[in-house]
Amino acid sequence: MKNIDWNNIGFGYIKTDYNVRCSFKDGEWGEVRSTQDEFVNLHMAATCLHYGQEAFEGLKAFRGKDGKIRIFRLDENAKRLQSSCKGIMMASLPVEKFEEAVIKAVKLNERFVPPYESGASLYIRPLLIGTSALVGVKPASEYEFIVFVTPVGPYFKGGFQTTPFVIMRQYDRAAPLGTGTFKVGGNYAASLVAGTHAHEMGYSAVFYLDPKEKKYIDECGAANFFAIKDNTYITPKSDSILPSITNKSLITLAEELGMKVERRQVHIDELETFEEAGACGTAAVISPIQRIDDYDTKKSYVYSPDGKPGKWSEKLYNKLRAIQYGDEPDTHSWVTIVE
Ligand code: PLP
Ligand code: COI
Repeated sequence: MKNIDWNNIGFGYIKTDYNVRCSFKDGEWGEVRSTQDEFVNLHMAATCLHYGQEAFEGLKAFRGKDGKIRIFRLDENAKRLQSSCKGIMMASLPVEKFEEAVIKAVKLNERFVPPYESGASLYIRPLLIGTSALVGVKPASEYEFIVFVTPVGPYFKGGFQTTPFVIMRQYDRAAPLGTGTFKVGGNYAASLVAGTHAHEMGYSAVFYLDPKEKKYIDECGAANFFAIKDNTYITPKSDSILPSITNKSLITLAEELGMKVERRQVHIDELETFEEAGACGTAAVISPIQRIDDYDTKKSYVYSPDGKPGKWSEKLYNKLRAIQYGDEPDTHSWVTIVE
């Protein structure tokens, strides 16, 4: 803590003071409690270890110029966790418990919320796991919900800068009717080989096509995709992508900025027609795309020959950050101030 260089932190794990937990047993969730223990004592036959009963969330808290701490769209993450739990048959956590636990985790670690000037933030990682000892492939009857926090800087190198992405048809992160719409650990395990391959070739992340036909755009690594063309914000609709809360927010902001919005299937051939392209997510914020290389066809779609972010991407980025840090009024009630 003594020596955190707020201006130069990356996206990693920095130990904080407390984490917050809540257990599900005998059909109900217990009290939210805090601990300084960074470890989890698990039965070796716990369903999370064998059958992937694990879901997580990612959200952020920001310190404003006024010193206040703001958590962005807390309720949306709570609802998405419920959807993920339903998707892999885990006990659903009430929205109020989620909110209570996240607020408690932020408050207890207040001193780790980076200062306004640094442009860094506090990443909040809630996770929920099946803990019952079972050997048959069945859902657990006991669960543990944990929230830890850690200060973070930019997810992609350089922060708000353009980076390259790559299409590789030999990998999928999710099946057509699989778990792609849920934030479950298995999807991320399934993306590691592809992600590492892409990194080794110098790309930020894999640019996924739909797993069924490989004709439509899905998402970019751990972020949704958006493109700009003719004053229109275009983003894929797909049954195999995570419904991004950042993307949902950008859709609202794009409309406010006077843009048209299209959320629909986006054919890969459209890539050549876009004026700007970007990846968006909690970790990624907006990461403008410099170019997308197609590993199989050797085509390259270039959005930023000079490496600079596009005009609309920059406007959207500034608008989103202004709301998150409290520089602009929160007209949509997206922000929870931690008192
Ligand atoms: N897509 C995937 C696969 C992700 O892991 C994330 C990150 O949470 C996103 C999209 C962006 O979602 P959000 O904006 O809610 O963080
Ligand atoms: C997020 O944006 O919160 C993510 O989940 C991205 C990644 C760290 C998994």
